[in-house]
Amino acid sequence: MENRKENIRIFLLEPEDGVTIEQTAKLEREIFPDPWSCHEIRNTVSNRQTVCAAAKEGDTLLGYLLCYYALDECEVARIAVDVRARRRGIGKGLLAYLEKFCRDNGIKKILLDVRKSNQAAICFYEKNGFQTDGVRKGYYSGKMPEDAVLMSLAL
Ligand SMILES: CC(C)(COP(=O)(O)OP(=O)(O)OC[C@H]1O[C@@H](n2cnc3c(N)ncnc32)[C@H](O)[C@@H]1OP(=O)(O)O)[C@@H](O)C(=O)NCCC(=O)NCCS
Repeated sequence: MENRKENIRIFLLEPEDGVTIEQTAKLEREIFPDPWSCHEIRNTVSNRQTVCAAAKEGDTLLGYLLCYYALDECEVARIAVDVRARRRGIGKGLLAYLEKFCRDNGIKKILLDVRKSNQAAICFYEKNGFQTDGVRKGYYSGKMPEDAVLMSLAL
């Protein structure tokens, strides 16, 4: 399965695709304070209960999505777009790819949690049809403790 928007290609990330996995780890380090390592990303991609997608323009990775699913629910663990490529619809394209995968596989609901302070992501999810289900106090611990906003999209 492959989606194309302009010259951007969105495709399933496979465990054998070492180059894209390394590019994903590099973007993780640039974007998140608690980046997943190459090893963690490869393990996730290799897990049969996951769906992971990458968005590329030529050989350049612009965004990615790492999700787990079980029975009829899917949880977004990571979604990110290179800061230089934001607000071009790449995040939307990744979610559209996920939605198609879910519908094709009998998944009825997409779930996620997001830091309360991450208003850009909350706006992004709302724009893509997600609703807020509640707030979980102190959900994130460690260096940057924070409440989580729980969101979902019924398919
Ligand atoms: C959230 C994220 C994936 C969105 O990716 P994107 O490719 O920029 O998203 P799209 O271009 O598809 O959608 C853009 C829409 O999202 C919303 N949005 C995105 N950034 C926003 C911001 N800074 N402020 C307000 N709304 C914002 C707007 O509705 C925007 O539409 P507009 O450009 O027409 O106003 C990206 O901002 C990102 O990688 N953030 C850092 C990682 C992160 O926080 N991930 C989520 C963790 S739960």
